[in-house]
Amino acid sequence: RGCKLIGCGSAVPSLNVSNDDLAKIVDTNDQWIAVRTGIRNRRVLSGKGTNIVILKHLRLWFSCKDSLTDLAAEAARKALEMAEVDPNDVDLILLCSSTPEDLFGSAPQIQRALGCKSNPLSFDITAACSGFMLGLVSAACYIRGGGFKNVLVIGADALSRYVDWTDRGTCILFGDAAGAVVVQACDIGEDGLFGFDLHSDGEGQRHLNASIKDNETDKAFGTNGSAFGFPPTGSSYSCIQMNGKEVFRFAVRAVPQSIEAALENAGLPRSKIDWLLLHQANQRILDAVATRLEVPSEHVISNLANYGNTSAASIPLALDEAVRSGKVQAGHVIAAAGFGAGLTWGSAILRW
Ligand code: ACO
Repeated sequence: RGCKLIGCGSAVPSLNVSNDDLAKIVDTNDQWIAVRTGIRNRRVLSGKGTNIVILKHLRLWFSCKDSLTDLAAEAARKALEMAEVDPNDVDLILLCSSTPEDLFGSAPQIQRALGCKSNPLSFDITAACSGFMLGLVSAACYIRGGGFKNVLVIGADALSRYVDWTDRGTCILFGDAAGAVVVQACDIGEDGLFGFDLHSDGEGQRHLNASIKDNETDKAFGTNGSAFGFPPTGSSYSCIQMNGKEVFRFAVRAVPQSIEAALENAGLPRSKIDWLLLHQANQRILDAVATRLEVPSEHVISNLANYGNTSAASIPLALDEAVRSGKVQAGHVIAAAGFGAGLTWGSAILRW
């Protein structure tokens, strides 16, 4: 059996935070951010869990109602509409997210929001900015080996909730969004996923992470304070910690290698690539990867300027904009790649 992409959709929060807005919170400026990253604006969810620094600064106390789950469901609905697939005909929902609104996973809540009465399997995949690539390849495997027919792959993240808005090295980079695609079973002759390549390296976690914090009980009594009669205090995660230079080096080295490997698995030469669709982390990373692969800049999809790095959402968000604007057309070959925390990275060669 083959599988093909038949629909896409996306959704972003209404609140826009420009570089000039950030310059009022941290010591930075529009020019520095634009030159070093290509980013000018990002969207931020203003709801439960929004960071207090950004809320206070933007005076948002009375308009806190967004939810990442709603955003993901909106993107999914648009993808199903384009694909002309009824929610009841979806048999698997994969939510790729590192920031679910329920620690136990948010995919079943999206299933509920979509009104799927057929009880499709739905679960979360956590792989930071590579999440969507892993979701896409997983969808293909479920279809090819598991008999699934219509799989919804959603990338959705709200990293704004885990950013230190007083750290100019990280808070300028991230935005919130959701994007989705429908992957459908088809005859092998129509197959739209030609080859892929996926990796991870736990050694690199020190360069990029948002790890669980030691709580006070742990510090005072070791990890099992409740044995001393203290109630458990609960835990939370630290803000994003990043060594930007190391992550940059990793991306420009690993991503071209991975795309080359995926092309080899697909049996296609570089010249067959119509579009390079990379995780939208930094324009300089996009440019460096394109140069290494000799892909002309007009064949590189980029919407970083408007949304920043939206983690697992960035690839389906950029794809959706490119499809709806008529850039990406039926039959075009896309080399897509994700990379990020874990460290994780991977690519796939697709036909739209
Ligand atoms: N505004 C003004 N100056 C700044 C800012 C800012 N926002 N941030 C840092 N600076 C200063 C630094 O303090 C430093 O000053 P100094 O020379 O006086 O010490 C100078 O600018 C240079 O800083 P660098 O950190 O060396 O800047 P660099 O060119 O490396 O750019 C950046 C930093 C944009 C973060 C870059 O390293 C990058 O994009 N790396 C990749 C990060 C990435 O993509 N992460 C996400 C991965 S996806 C995921 O899974 C979450």
